[in-house]
Amino acid sequence: MRDKYQINFMPDGKQIWIHSGATVLEAAHQAGIILNTTCGGKGTCGKCKVLLAPDQREVLACQHKINSDLTVTIPPESRFFRQKILEHGFISEVEIYPAKENAENTTFGVAVDIGTTTVVAKLFDLINGRERATAADFNPQARFGDDVISRISYVESQEKRTELQKIIIDCLNKLTKQLADVAGVDKNSIDEMVVVGNTTMNHLFLSLPVEQLGQAPYLAHSLDGYDIPAEKLGIDINPAANIHTVENIAGFVGSDITAAALATAMNHAEQMTLLIDIGTNGEIVLGTKNKLYSASCAAGPAFEGARIIQGSRAVVGAIEAVVINENNIDIDVIGNQPPASICGSGLIDAVAVMLELGVIDKTGRFIDKTAAKDKLPPKIFERLIQIDSQPAFVLAFKKGKTPAVSLTQKDIREVQLAKAAIRSGIKLLQMKLDLQDDDIQQILLAGAFGNYIRKESALKIGLLPDVGTERIHFVGNAACAGAQMILLNKKARDLAKRLAEKIQYVEIARLTDFSTVYADSMLFVTRDSSP
Ligand code: FES
Repeated sequence: MRDKYQINFMPDGKQIWIHSGATVLEAAHQAGIILNTTCGGKGTCGKCKVLLAPDQREVLACQHKINSDLTVTIPPESRFFRQKILEHGFISEVEIYPAKENAENTTFGVAVDIGTTTVVAKLFDLINGRERATAADFNPQARFGDDVISRISYVESQEKRTELQKIIIDCLNKLTKQLADVAGVDKNSIDEMVVVGNTTMNHLFLSLPVEQLGQAPYLAHSLDGYDIPAEKLGIDINPAANIHTVENIAGFVGSDITAAALATAMNHAEQMTLLIDIGTNGEIVLGTKNKLYSASCAAGPAFEGARIIQGSRAVVGAIEAVVINENNIDIDVIGNQPPASICGSGLIDAVAVMLELGVIDKTGRFIDKTAAKDKLPPKIFERLIQIDSQPAFVLAFKKGKTPAVSLTQKDIREVQLAKAAIRSGIKLLQMKLDLQDDDIQQILLAGAFGNYIRKESALKIGLLPDVGTERIHFVGNAACAGAQMILLNKKARDLAKRLAEKIQYVEIARLTDFSTVYADSMLFVTRDSSP
């Protein structure tokens, strides 16, 4: 039996390599494909059905273990957002409420999510609601800094604000042209655009002042949504087209979270729901349709690979998964290439595995090497080394037992800080609502990074409340799905506005319990005694 298999997903055309014994559901997550998993992967809801070539045999993705190369077709009804969108009646094949009234024969719209790192744009037919093309690119503002704080510090004058606005508008013009070319439509027939993003991206797009976002109390200049003619902003589509920006919630909880909350139906949530988008800045919404709180936590870039000695983003050659295999470990590497770095999902797995094996303890400290010899299996023991006088653990060797990728004590500390920022933010909102972990009925993991982490590992290191894997669901690029709803449905536009007003922002760093909860959250424990 081989230890890695190649999985092709259709009709997406995505291809990944994964370790033997993984489920098709895990492989789909690794490919960034979000399936409907109402029962959380227990095999009881039947919502995650997929078809296996060559005979299109139907299996449950969460139950089917991989032990050969596979071609998997995902039917539309097994995809998370299609189901959600249909459930909530925003979009159906036959009933669309185009934002653009009096549309003539052809009219198109674009939904845009401006991320700090990536910009995603999707073209839709506004008459029938069908998606016609998708395009994405790195946010070119990144040359002024990877994170929002560096970009805020760069913008110290109106001139620089205009410069950054022009850069993002040029990027949207490039993406829009690509969309129109791919779909074979005239860009002048694009009559509507909906733009979401974090508050800094929203302000830079609109050329609003951002200095106040860089210093406490981190206030937005404006939380409002805007409707501006394309011509005025320099967006190269129908000059009279309307560009709609969605309402922000607070200085560090932007319109992308408003859109994600809308797409995941937080405004209808009967069950206690935690929506979380983990990135350099972790954004959280917790509550039910009756009361919703939000917070932002400064996780830092550790989960994006920065500050980790061999860390990287999710690029070819990065370790993306680590699992225990009998008395050793097994890794998955993006592109099935020789391992050269480790990305965020691999990092969370690696720490979970090191805890499980006893290589580190719950305080994050490495086991003493002399004591380790009797306690660890030989193949694990030989992975303990020293790098620059620090204990380290080798995740992958090159030929001849030279370490290829290792994690040091300092790396573990960085993960601990990022994890504590996220977990303490969630815990402080739980305290606000007087909730124990068990009271949270569903956790929705949104955003690029959230899609790729393994639930078991996130729970093991205590990143998320201890609710069991079955209550954790991946929801993919919920911000983009929300922008799509707002583009296609005028009612959704009003709902988004109301939702942004309804979600109460909590400045967690100002709460009296912040320091204690943050310090407690440094421990790698699945469940603790607080709140
Ligand atoms: S049956 Fe697979 S997720 Fe429910």
